[in-house]
Formats: sequence, C-alpha cells, structure tokens
Amino acid sequence: MSSESTSLPFESKYWPSKRYSDVYSRSLEDMENFWDEEARKLEWFRCWDKVLDGEPPFSRWFVGGQLNASYQCVDFHDKTWRRNKVALYWEGEPGDSNTLSYSDLYRETNKFASVLRNLGIRKGDRVALYLPMIPELPIFMLACARLGAPHTVIFSGFSARALADRVKETEAKVLITSNGAFRRGKVLRLKDTVDEALTECPSVESVIVVKRTDLEVNCKEGRDYWLKDLLKDAEPYVKPEPVESTHPIYILYTSGTTGKPKGIVHSTGGYIVYNHSVFKWVFDIREDTVYWCTADVGWVTGHSNIVYAPLSHGATLVVYEGAPDYPSIDRWWQIIDKFRVTAFYTSPTAIRMFMRYGEEGPKRHDLSSLKILGTVGEPINPEAWIWYYKNIGKSRCPIVDTWWQTETGGIMISPLPGLDMVPLKPGSVTFPLPGIDAEVVKDNGEPTSPGERGYLIIRRPWPGMLMTIYKDPERYKQTYWSKFPSMYFTSDYAIKDQEGYFWILGRADEVLKIAGHRLGAAELESAAVAHPGIAEAAVIGKPDPIKGEIITIFAIPRQNYEPSEKFVEELKEHIRKVIGPIATPEEIYFVTSLPKTRSGKIMRRVLKAVATGSSIGDLSTLEDEASVEEVKRAYEELKKMAKS
Ligand code: PRX
Repeated sequence: MSSESTSLPFESKYWPSKRYSDVYSRSLEDMENFWDEEARKLEWFRCWDKVLDGEPPFSRWFVGGQLNASYQCVDFHDKTWRRNKVALYWEGEPGDSNTLSYSDLYRETNKFASVLRNLGIRKGDRVALYLPMIPELPIFMLACARLGAPHTVIFSGFSARALADRVKETEAKVLITSNGAFRRGKVLRLKDTVDEALTECPSVESVIVVKRTDLEVNCKEGRDYWLKDLLKDAEPYVKPEPVESTHPIYILYTSGTTGKPKGIVHSTGGYIVYNHSVFKWVFDIREDTVYWCTADVGWVTGHSNIVYAPLSHGATLVVYEGAPDYPSIDRWWQIIDKFRVTAFYTSPTAIRMFMRYGEEGPKRHDLSSLKILGTVGEPINPEAWIWYYKNIGKSRCPIVDTWWQTETGGIMISPLPGLDMVPLKPGSVTFPLPGIDAEVVKDNGEPTSPGERGYLIIRRPWPGMLMTIYKDPERYKQTYWSKFPSMYFTSDYAIKDQEGYFWILGRADEVLKIAGHRLGAAELESAAVAHPGIAEAAVIGKPDPIKGEIITIFAIPRQNYEPSEKFVEELKEHIRKVIGPIATPEEIYFVTSLPKTRSGKIMRRVLKAVATGSSIGDLSTLEDEASVEEVKRAYEELKKMAKS
C-alpha cells in the first residue's frame, strides 16, 4: 500500500477537491434536506411526509411517499424522446444478439406484468427468478416491481439445494426459469434443477419457462407454462401499483457467518433514490453513456447496477450472457468495441485473469470509446489496477474502485467522476460518497490513527440501507448494529491513510470472497459435513493471486472413510452439488483433529496460518478457555498433514 498518489491526470480543478468537500460536508450537516433534494429527482405518486423516520437499525426513508420502481425505469422514459433510445444491447453467448429500445422495454414489462397478474400475483406476493443473463431476467424484475411483488433472484449457478432453501423461506408463489442456459458452449439444465428444488417448495403454484435453448424439458401439467403461451393472453398495459416508499422491492440472499444465508430486504423508495444518485456521481452518467456492468444480475451488483440505477436514468445498457473468455479470450474487448461502451464495471478477479492472458486480447480491439472504468467486490491489488488503467483505459480513464455490500444497496465509498475527481491511488477506494458517514474504528469504537487497521463502520443511516433480514429482525440487529451501538458494522477491515483515503483490507468475519463472490465458512462447513464420510470440517479462504481467495477445507473423515484422491474429488463434487460450482473447494486436507477453543469453537485463524505458511502468532493470547496445548498439538499435526 502506498500513501503517495500516483501522477494520474485526474487532479481536481479545485484540489484539494473543494466541490467534493463542500457537497460532502453539506450532506452530513443537513442530511435530511440533502436527501430530500435527491429524492425530488425521481417520479413519485405521492410525496413523503418525512425524509427519515425512526432510529437505526429500523430507520425508514421517505415515509408516506408512494412510487413504483418500474414506472421510474420504463414509463417515465417511454413518455419522452427516450422511447426510441436503446435501453439494452443484449449479446448471447453463442453470438446471437438483441436490441431493446425503451419503448420495447415498456411494452415487454407490461406484458410480463400481465402474465404474472394472470397467475395470481398481487402486491406483496414473492416471485422467484432463476434465470441466465437473458433480457427476460431484468424485464421480469421490472414486472414484479410493477405489481409491487418483491422478487428474489437466485443466481443461476446455485444448486437445487440452495435454490430450494431460498424459495422455501420466501414462500414464492411463482418461479421463473428457462429451459436451459449457455455456459462455455455447454447447455446447463436449469429446469431440471428447478424440478428437483420444487419437490420441497409447496408455495410455488406456477413455473414460467422461458425458451432459451433447444433442450427438451419436463413440464408438469397445471404448474409449468411456457412464457410464449402465457404471453398470448397478456394485456398490453398494467397499471403500476403505487407502493409505499418502505415497501420491499426485493429480497436477495447473501452469505453470513452462520450456515444459513440471510435474506436482505431492500425498500423501494430509499433504494431507488440512493442508487439513482450514486450512479450519477460514480459513473458520470450522460445521455450518450453506454454502460456495461459484467456482473450477473443474480448478485446485488446486477440488481443495482444493471437494472435499477441505469434504467432509472434512461441509460443504454449492455448485457452479456456468457463467460468472459469464451469462445476466445478477447470476447469482452470485442463487445466493448462492438457497442462502443463508455463505462465498464467489472471485478478485480476478472482483471487479474485477463492480466494473465496478456495484452494481446485488448490490443486487437478499438477501446477508444471507454471513458470510465470501475471495479467492485473485493480489494484490487495495485498491480492489477495499473494493468487495467494502462491496457484497457489506455491511461485515459479514471478507475472507480467502488466499495459496497449487498446490505448497503448501493456504492458507498468510491471516486466520483460525476461530482468531482480526486487524485487516485491504486488500491484505495478513496472517499465516502455524500451522505455516507464512514469511519474506521478501533475495538472501542474510537477512530483509528492514520495507517492503523480498524473496522469500517457507517455512523448514520443512508437511504440505500437494508431494512431488515427477511423473517429475522433480531439477527439483523445483532449482525449489523450491536458491535458498536448506533453504528452500522460492515464486517470489513480498513485503513484510513494520512490524507484520509480509505483502503479496504477484506472481511473481518468468517466470510470468504471467492472471485468476488461471498460465501460463509460456516455454510461451506455445513455442506462438507452433510457428506456421510465427513465428521467435522473447517473452511478457510486461502489467498490466491487471481481469485483473491480460494476455498481450503480441513476435514476429519469418519471411520471407514480413508483419505484418498478419490475421496477428495468426491467431496468436491458433493459441495458443488450442495451449493453450486462457485463453492468448489480448491484444496482439501484430511486431518484427525482440528484446533479448537475449549468451548468447541474451531480456530480458523490457526488453520489459515498453517495453510499460508505464515506465523501462527502468539498462542498465549487465545481466549482464556482455549486449551493452548491442545491447539499447539493440533497445529503440529496439521502442519505435517499440510506438507504431506
Ligand atoms: O469485503 C467487502 C467486499 O465485498 C463485500 C460485500 O460483498 P457482497 O455483499 O457480495 O457485495 C459485493 C458487491 C457490492 C464487502 O464487505 N468488497 C466489495 N467491494 C469492494 C470490496 N472489498 C474491497 N474493495 C472493494 N471495492
């Protein structure tokens, strides 16, 4: 980490960034008026009575206001010249493509909303989406929002088990899927996964199947319908349901420190206002912006930065269905060239992967349309940052390294080319956005000294904040608002340098970041012990030069199960099946015991030291109840095992 700013040509005209400082100070001094003005940039059916109501953790935004997210994202533009503007350039993996204007989007959203309504969906009902990256996915999300039916999108790489757990908890009435999905030239059998999951989801009355491939699928009479058949009876217009600002727009599951993923609930008003504002500040959105976010819509990045923020601005989007390097390693650069993308947003893992492929790929294409580059999801190492800056941005484009979380709803700390540029430092997310009172604190809640590691916290509510954890408000309070009273705890470690720049170091809890995807150690452990041959398991994230972290498992086999290569492969396959391919462990070590505290808590810190070959640290600082001798013994044993 360097606290020196590099000589990048983005010095603010007003340095030391007067405009940013002014807006930021005002946003905190006069927070409610600040957000009141931002909220007025959107279309509301009824104005709010109060900008902010209630104390955190249960703060509520724009209370009394009524709006509809689909109205903001489609109707609003359809009433203007933008009806003929491209809303979405879609590129399929096999090379097929489709272009939708805002009027196409308006028409399709209405018809899809009518399909859902004809299947009985009403305000408040939950709808599950398990779809690949095809236009039907954002359109169905907008259709749900139109009816006031919170959607829950489940990443199409998740297994039947993961899908069933999420659908069961939300009690979704309708599930939408496709008859298959393209991935690296193969066809994935999504509908089969759905059929398996639905054996235990009694709430699902209807399944809508989008035809994406030629795959034949089973159709259960009276439950499964092809979308094209349902569209025959669809009305061309469905009135957007005015919903309260605090009405949930969606539930999105994410991993935490227990085995059970958390259903993060976002509001409609606060979420849309926040994302509308930050999208402008971060990506300097203009009428001619062509914006491409490479995330899957199944993650929060896709929810906010493919669907709701760009469409609320009437921006032109690029959506790509397939893998980044398929069929050739220059596929992404070809797409940027083809659609003249101006703002490009991706993950550090993808950048590191392309860095390994070399400069040839990007050189083959004209990337001169690019104006802003972004990254998200995990810390970016300065080397990858500089590679991205030089080889993709051709040393012309600022990089917005954006820090945020599923829970925060939108970007919280990032450079802001759309507001005021500050000098960039590769690897730093720079400064908090207006309205975001972020700080790095010590265990006692006091701010750290410059350069000292601490916890990243947010001191005040913001409109994009999650409302609760679905069906578990107590867990919501405990997880985010109890470590430091009245402060939102992000679970990230961070540093503020001498100049006040924020540097995010990674998670302070037992959550792993695998290629930017969030997976809980406990979730992976419970998947491992669900195998009949595993008695106990401990999971750690081992640093990896491309993926940021890889999954490493230390497992105790049951009697009659011999450690072997075959068993390793079997266990990997088992975990893929339980969670999905993103959870495939890279390393599995069989051991006879695991280091624990006396109270039975596995000491993953010790395992991490073993796996990375780093110093195990001072064992005498362990919790009182911990048996130091026991840990040392286990450590020696593990070291031997890890070496063998
Ligand atoms: O650890 C931080 C990391 O991603 C976590 C949030 O993960 P998720 O909810 O899946 O959302 C990811 C996309 C918004 C954070 O707690 N993270 C996110 N962005 C960055 C980051 N770490 C470092 N730098 C970032 N820019």
